[in-house]
Amino acid sequence: MKVMYSVADTQTYLQNLRVKSDMKIGFVPTMGALHDGHISLVKQSVEDNDFTVVSIFVNPRQFNDKSDFDNYPIDHEKDLEMLNKAGCDLVFSPSGNNIFENFDGFKMDFNGLDEIYEGEFRPGHFQGVVDIVYRLFEIVQPHKAYFGQKDFQQLAVIRLMTKTANFDIEIISCPIVRENSGLAMSSRNLRLSKEQFQSAANISKLLNYIAINLKVGDDTDSYSQYFIDEIEKISDMKAEYCVFCNTVSLDLIKKITKNSEIIVCVAVWCGKIRLIDNIILVF
Ligand code: PAF
Repeated sequence: MKVMYSVADTQTYLQNLRVKSDMKIGFVPTMGALHDGHISLVKQSVEDNDFTVVSIFVNPRQFNDKSDFDNYPIDHEKDLEMLNKAGCDLVFSPSGNNIFENFDGFKMDFNGLDEIYEGEFRPGHFQGVVDIVYRLFEIVQPHKAYFGQKDFQQLAVIRLMTKTANFDIEIISCPIVRENSGLAMSSRNLRLSKEQFQSAANISKLLNYIAINLKVGDDTDSYSQYFIDEIEKISDMKAEYCVFCNTVSLDLIKKITKNSEIIVCVAVWCGKIRLIDNIILVF
């Protein structure tokens, strides 16, 4: 496995690879602090492509909360070990802010996607995500790029950016990987105390409760309120939102109709750690 830190070297290396061979390149962008969720994306890419690139870069532009950025977990050695084992071919880990040199950002119409749900509570977050993923796509120019379904709204934003920027890249969504307790894997889980880690399992338990009980004809508001109230009862936890949306448009769904596919998206504070999760339901 190659590890490269320079933007120019990585770009040249991958350009040569594309020109000299007709290798299919798969790409998994990450911010490091890798867990089995990331590794499932890498394994999917290794299976689908001839060459897999993984980027590691904690992108300052997408953190609206400075303390979240300052406390973001980093373990470069462990990340490299996990990636090597998973079959990654090239790790691109740009240093400092070199990746943004002479780049003002990619301006696009978000169609309101940056103002709802995650966007409402994390102003500027999606512009930061678009900026880094745009730059990474320019440098790596993969055939396919892999993202986790846990960040469902991010996936929608990246699909829109890919289309707007005319990148010929297939965006692949991979299922959420969970702890034994049901808690969705996240790098931020590393910052939870033992008690918080146990309490946080209630997020997926409540999503499963909704999945089992919600039926055609039901109003979603009462389920949303139920989720928020149940989370509130747990010490140190507070729900920021629980929304029921169309899986394609992300429009809010108020009443469940026949033959519909919806996604329930939630954001919950566990002490000072913000966690998100979701579940897709088909009726
Ligand atoms: O999902 C993430 O880890 C990040 O938002 C991404 C896509 C690597 C961009 O920094």
